[in-house]
Amino acid sequence: MVSRHEDVRTVLNDRRFSADRQHPDFPQLVEGGAAARRPGEERTLIEMDAPEHGPARKAVLGEFTVRRLDALRPRIQEIVDGRIDALLAGPRPGDLVDSLSVPVQSLVICEMSGVPYADHESFQGHTVKMLKQSTLPEERGAAMAAIQGYLADLIAEKEENPPDDLLGRQIVKLCADGTYRRPALAGLGFLLLVAGHETTANMISLSTVAFLRNPEQLALIKADPGKTLDAVEEMLRYFTIIDAAAARLCVEDTEVGGQLIRAGEGVLTLGCSANRDPRVFENPDDLDVERGARHHVAFGFGPQQCLGQNLARMELQTVFDTLFRRVPTLEPAVDVDELPFKDDANIYGLHRLPAIW
Ligand code: HEM
Repeated sequence: MVSRHEDVRTVLNDRRFSADRQHPDFPQLVEGGAAARRPGEERTLIEMDAPEHGPARKAVLGEFTVRRLDALRPRIQEIVDGRIDALLAGPRPGDLVDSLSVPVQSLVICEMSGVPYADHESFQGHTVKMLKQSTLPEERGAAMAAIQGYLADLIAEKEENPPDDLLGRQIVKLCADGTYRRPALAGLGFLLLVAGHETTANMISLSTVAFLRNPEQLALIKADPGKTLDAVEEMLRYFTIIDAAAARLCVEDTEVGGQLIRAGEGVLTLGCSANRDPRVFENPDDLDVERGARHHVAFGFGPQQCLGQNLARMELQTVFDTLFRRVPTLEPAVDVDELPFKDDANIYGLHRLPAIW
């Protein structure tokens, strides 16, 4: 286990540590994790190494440029406002997870990718099952296969007349390059849907609780929305919702932080610990939205660092700037100790957040 900030960055930036989650020696985070994989299953971006990874990432990078994301901003604002309208019109207490966190993230990723939002309940259910630690390997495999099958069918429909959405544009681009393969695109769609369903949503819920528990920190962003992006970075650092997502397999003896890691050994990089490394973050257990935490590793580091990070930042910034302005009296309806935190999932968060206003 690699726990220091510097060492985590070293491992994640070194090709001697492989991201190939299909390798039989890869350290699995859940029991029977390898058994959930089907033989010959498509390798997604997040499990590719060089030289395969670079071109595959480059092919989709254009979808996440600042320019493309800026064009999405008004629609994200509309989605956030719509969900807050629904929360305010609904019963009190309302559940912030159900009415805001999950639908915001889900609507954004569905619209962006070109996946009908009407189908979200089905693949959201499969995603939750996949990420739950107690899910049996066969069930995990079936959940993954169901999402991939759904996407392969959807992509097949798009092939005839590719629409102007992420999947449609990928079909056009990859066909022009002569590299189009439906299962590979279904793999990418799968990764985006999973990454887009359980990450930002959890950050919205956890950060909302943190802001409400630390009114002096909330007051800082309310007084100056120019500080919201810094606050978002601090929330990402503070919660590090994917603690050991960036596992790796050592493929060549390497010394890290004075320790020899041998080829064939599994490595867990501990994001939570790195992001609270006192050598890098002063008083790391304090939530301080003004600390300037952008060098955290909550999005990983190196060639595989999160592709959706700027999208996630934009969603979080929009939610916080809008929610606390429009619902200034918001507060949790139960004691924080009674909130159902996701201690049973690979991505930390909240199952529910009952709130009143
Ligand atoms: C707060 C929200 C998010 C967090 C904390 C997060 C975290 C991470 C982390 C830690 C990694 C690196 C894994 C590794 O090195 O093995 C990663 C990779 C990735 N994330 Fe995110 N993520 C978030 C949101 C998103 C969103 C919204 C999307 C999609 C739109 C996304 C798409 C991806 C993809 C495609 C990769 C793989 C990149 C590659 O291998 O080149 N993420 N994410």
